[in-house]
This record gives sequence, structure tokens and C-alpha cells, in this order.
Amino acid sequence: MSHAQPTPLTARASGPLRGAAAIPGDKSISHRALILGAMAVGETRITGLLEGQDVLDTGRAMAAFGAGVERTGEGAWRVCGVGVGGFSEPADVIDCGNSGTGVRLIMGAMATTPIAATFTGDASLRARPMGRVTGPLALFGARAHGRSGGRLPLTLVGAPAPGPVDYTMTVASAQVKSAMLLAGLAAPGETVIHEPEPTRDHSERMLRGFGATIAVEQTQKGRLIRLTGQPELVPQRIAVPRDPSSAAFPVAAALIVAGSEVAAAGVGMNPTRAGLYACLREMGADLALENPREEGGEPVADLRARFSALKGIEVPPGRAPSMIDEYPILAVVAAFAEGVTVMRGIGELRVKESDRIDAMARGLEACGVRVEEDADTLIVHGMGAGGVPGGATVATRLDHRIAMSFLCLGLASKKAVTVDDSGPIATSFPGFMALMRGLGADLGAPV
Ligand code: S3P
Repeated sequence: MSHAQPTPLTARASGPLRGAAAIPGDKSISHRALILGAMAVGETRITGLLEGQDVLDTGRAMAAFGAGVERTGEGAWRVCGVGVGGFSEPADVIDCGNSGTGVRLIMGAMATTPIAATFTGDASLRARPMGRVTGPLALFGARAHGRSGGRLPLTLVGAPAPGPVDYTMTVASAQVKSAMLLAGLAAPGETVIHEPEPTRDHSERMLRGFGATIAVEQTQKGRLIRLTGQPELVPQRIAVPRDPSSAAFPVAAALIVAGSEVAAAGVGMNPTRAGLYACLREMGADLALENPREEGGEPVADLRARFSALKGIEVPPGRAPSMIDEYPILAVVAAFAEGVTVMRGIGELRVKESDRIDAMARGLEACGVRVEEDADTLIVHGMGAGGVPGGATVATRLDHRIAMSFLCLGLASKKAVTVDDSGPIATSFPGFMALMRGLGADLGAPV
């Protein structure tokens, strides 16, 4: 989806944020539920699906490949799968909008079926590297024809006679890993993926739930994943947990807006996703994780965050894959801490929906915060609670997380902060504005 008219939005210093935040469904798990539902034989029922644009685009794509995809209620969807290898050739271009996860996982899911599909997306997605997926998918025999640098629009021709693959990951990317696992489904024999740096494991968990034979072993060199090809996937009932990456915004806002206390129930706490919450606690956040339990094969907990005196920390680089989407909001929190926060080993942020190191550095500078950066580092010099000047308009760059991060900053800074376009927030968190206003945030049109 490309939205034509930018919608600027201003966040102003707000009274305490208080209340319960109903966090939407997990984006990563929602994509996977639709895709694996489409590859199972029969009817999968999903509840709590994130109805953000990214996921809706993936649902439309699954329908274009021949699955039945139907909304039956709020967050409730029915997917009639066509079986592994059962995708039919789409009649038109597949538009994945803003979603790197959508396009990369779908390319994997079709790469071992002898059909062709052409993929495109918005200006952000068309600028992102696809070679990291099409390169390894070529090992199965899939052929990609894209623009220079392997960028979208791109046509992928699925392998007519795929064989199993033994592949060692060269980037720490759950999208690439998941694309390879989904491709391995329609290849005979055992596909083996070596993952030196562990990334989110929702695909592995969900594949097991759908009845695939998948073994994960921890070795000295990281994780070793073995997937047996050509299973018959059994349709599932999937209750999608709430998204820790979305919960990060109201939680962070509560920590930096004086007097706040915000609760968020049933939030996914998969260890491969929870790095931000470890960082916040190290910074001195009053953050409780209560009632830990398992729902639908994923760990979840209830969160409670209270306004806190925070201090800067050095984030361990090895934690990056478990919080890769949370660095923008961590950088905002760091601006309200005493002392310096150092984030190293985050070069992957340069190829997200925007170059997030640059977007955060320029935005924080405009708001009066001192930063340092290099190719894979961001350092934020904290100004303490209430110490951030604000008073700037920040470029969103078609990036939902940049928009939400700077709106949170504006709630706690001395002067109002405007983002030039709040439209992209709908890709992952369509109810963000309403939820934040419900807690007491002053979000409104610029004056
Ligand atoms: C995702 C993986 C991450 C993350 C993205 C969602 C996924 O990307 O940034 O928002 O669902 O697999 P990479 O795998 O490229 O790091």
C-alpha cells in the first residue's frame, strides 16, 4: 500500500499516562500464521491476528497464490490452505506494501513450487536488499530477476525440481532463515540451516505446531535446524500473542512521562524477542513482568511499567537480534536517562524500513539530544528525566517505528515534537493513536 497524503501529527508534553494498554497481535507471528495456514491442507483458524497493513497485504498475497483467506470477526481469520507445493501462479503482481517480512517469507514459501511471481512494494520496500533471500533461495534452484542490487520489483521463478539445502546464515536475519525453512518444506529430503547468531524462532515453533518434523540443536557454533521436506501440514487453531515490539511504545512512554503507570497484559516474551525489556531493567526501569505463562506455543507475560529514574547502559551487541526493532524506542528512552547509552553491532538497522541509525540520529539531534554514530553504532548522551528540549519536526521516512518513537519522545520533552507523517504507523499498530490517547497522551494535529 502506498498512502498518498502525508498526515503530520504532534505529540505534546502530557500528564501522567495511566491505564491498561490493549496491545495488538504480534506482527511476525501473524505473517507466519497466514503463510503456514495457506500451506496446510484444510482450514486454519486464527484469533488475535494483527490487522495492520503489512499483515493484510500478506493475507491478500496468500489469496493470490490460491488459498482461501477470510475475515470472520475482529482479529479472527479463516485460512483454507492448499498444501505444501500447492500454490498456484498469481494472476498479477504481488504488492507487499511496506513489509520486508511479508515479501521475504512469501518468496521463500513459493521458491520450491514451479510457478513464477512478481513482487513489488512501496518506496521503502523497493529500496531494501532482497539478494540476502534470493541468493540462498537459488540453492534450491529458484531464479530471481530483479532490479540492480536485487531490489524490487523482482520476479521469482520457483525451482521445478528442488533439492534439499545445507546453508549457513551469513546475516542474523529471521526473515532469511524463515524464507529458507518455508522453501525447504516443498523440497524432498532434509534441509539444514546453521544459524551462528540466534534470531526469533517463531517459524520453528509454528512449523512444529503444524506437524512438520523440525529439530533444533544448540551447538558450539550456534543453532542447527533440520527440517524434513514434503510434510503434510495439519491445520491449526492459532491464538496470536500480543506484540512485544508494539508494547515497547506505551511501556517506554510510561517510563519517561512523569507519574505514569501503564499495564499491558498477555505480551509475547519469547526470549528471542525480549532484549529491550532486559535493557530497560538494566537502565533502572520500574518494569514488572508478571504471571509468566505459555500461550499457543509462545511465552507471554503481563507487563507493568512506572515512570522511572533511568541511567545509560552499554547494550551487549550479542543482544541485537533479540531487540532489532526496538533500538529506535530504546534510543528515545536513552535520551531521558542520566549518562550515555551505547548501542554497538546494529548495522542491520541501516536496511530496515528506513536507515534507522541515521533517522534516529538526525531526529534526536533536531530535538536537542547529542548523539554519535558510525556504520554500526549509535551513542546517545542522555539528558535525564524532563531534560530533552524537543521542539522539532522529524522525518518519518515511511517508517512506522521512527514515527512512534518520536511521538513518544514528544510526550516527555519540553517542547512539542511533530512527525511529518503518521500514516506508516498503520502498517504495524493501527490503533496506536487511540491507545495512547486513552492513556492520556496529547497527540493532535500540528498548529
Ligand atoms: C522479522 C525479522 C526482523 C525484524 C522484522 C520482523 C520477522 O528482520 O526486523 O521486523 O518477522 O522475521 P530481519 O530478519 O531482517 O532481522
